[in-house]
Amino acid sequence: MTGILGRPARAWIADHGLPLHITWLPRIRENVRAFKAAFADLYPKGAIRYAVKAAAHPALLAAIRAEGAGADVTSPFEARCALEAGMAPATLDLNGNCKEDGLVREALAGDMLFVADSVEDLHLAEAAARSLGVRPRLILRLSGYDLGKVTGDAIFTAGRWSKFGIPVDETPAVLENLAAWPSLRILGFHTHIGSQITSPAPYLAVLGTLLELGAVLRDRVGACPILNLGGGFPVNYLDAHAWDELRRRTAAQDGFAWNLGTGGLDRGPDGALDPASWHGEAFHSPWPKAEMLRAVLGGETTVDGRSVPVLKALEALGSPELVIEPGRSIAEDAGITLCRVAHVRRAAGAHNLVTVEMGVTSHADAMLEGLPNRWDVLDGPADPEPFETFVAGNLCFSGDLLARYKVPLHRRPVRGDTLVIHDTGAYTSHLMASNANAYPRPSRLLADEDGSCTVMFARDGYHDLFN
Ligand SMILES: Cc1ncc(COP(=O)(O)O)c(C=O)c1O
Repeated sequence: MTGILGRPARAWIADHGLPLHITWLPRIRENVRAFKAAFADLYPKGAIRYAVKAAAHPALLAAIRAEGAGADVTSPFEARCALEAGMAPATLDLNGNCKEDGLVREALAGDMLFVADSVEDLHLAEAAARSLGVRPRLILRLSGYDLGKVTGDAIFTAGRWSKFGIPVDETPAVLENLAAWPSLRILGFHTHIGSQITSPAPYLAVLGTLLELGAVLRDRVGACPILNLGGGFPVNYLDAHAWDELRRRTAAQDGFAWNLGTGGLDRGPDGALDPASWHGEAFHSPWPKAEMLRAVLGGETTVDGRSVPVLKALEALGSPELVIEPGRSIAEDAGITLCRVAHVRRAAGAHNLVTVEMGVTSHADAMLEGLPNRWDVLDGPADPEPFETFVAGNLCFSGDLLARYKVPLHRRPVRGDTLVIHDTGAYTSHLMASNANAYPRPSRLLADEDGSCTVMFARDGYHDLFN
């Protein structure tokens, strides 16, 4: 790899320094369009609400709005960012388990869709609606499903042990009690299963439950016009071969995983790690991004004990609007991160370890779930063999590991080289960026094909840290 997005790497670095995050806006547009096309082909009553938490800036959201999508917002500044991007309040879903009073009032007065996360949220919305004299639109977020291990524990949000949502088995009682919230117009249901859901099966299982409850709601209030399947559409960090290799080599414990880690592998009866047993977040899916939406819409679900094509089941409920809230699948593969090599050394005696002048806080994927991103070293002729290495950052704790599975570089890097991490557009650059060790948070750029570049965040200066 030499140039970056049509410019020499040294030009980006001269202008903005290192470390540096760059998001490529054309890829964001392309990803939104792929979801739109899936809906247009299979279920035109679909709607996209981009999950702003994945990556936010008014310029980025304006591009998403221009593609016809709304947004899922959670905090006052996420909502403000979407509104400043020109999104209409009615195209915003207000999610979250701890909504602040001011935002609740703003949402209800402005006709955002309120996603009630709990019965407590229903009481909160009822009180706010009465004091404002409005009849807001609401849907109920559900959790408590028995789906088994569908992704990493830290990013699975729909199980029994969840801080989100009304448990599905308590929902019939909530529907019996709608008279307790006379100001609220309850229009349907929501479930966000979690992030990086690599199989259609959990979506299809959840959809069956939402359809059944939708029929109960329709019988009680006359209609169920909205079902929301949340986000979670997966991204391929590795191709199918590299994903198999990661599991095989992790099982072999040949030093491919840091500290001989076992990843998501279980031991078989003979005590050996089983490469087929991976549970937790998977790093590859046969249905990436909008392909997952196509698989779900083209699949079968179980409603009242009967297997039915999804499209027929939706029609039977009166063709509700089907909303999705993709975040990672829109932003992740639009982003890259650049960082500078400090040293090339050894760890645990025999293993290559490249250290870089950037902490894992600026690459949260590696911190939360140990994601194995693809890495490149910029420029230079290839060595006869790839240089396989772990990568660690510059912070003062041992968990500061940016690559816990060895990455193959086309050559051995040297101090001062630039490394590029791919697929870092979502939940990476800003999610946990901090001033640990008094380092500045890196700049984040939004680049477009016409050569324009928006600085989404400018690197901290000394006085930003100590103000
Ligand atoms: C309610 C809700 N919807 C959508 C998303 C987006 O998920 P993803 O980025 O995996 O698509 C999230 C992520 O946390 C969420 O909490």
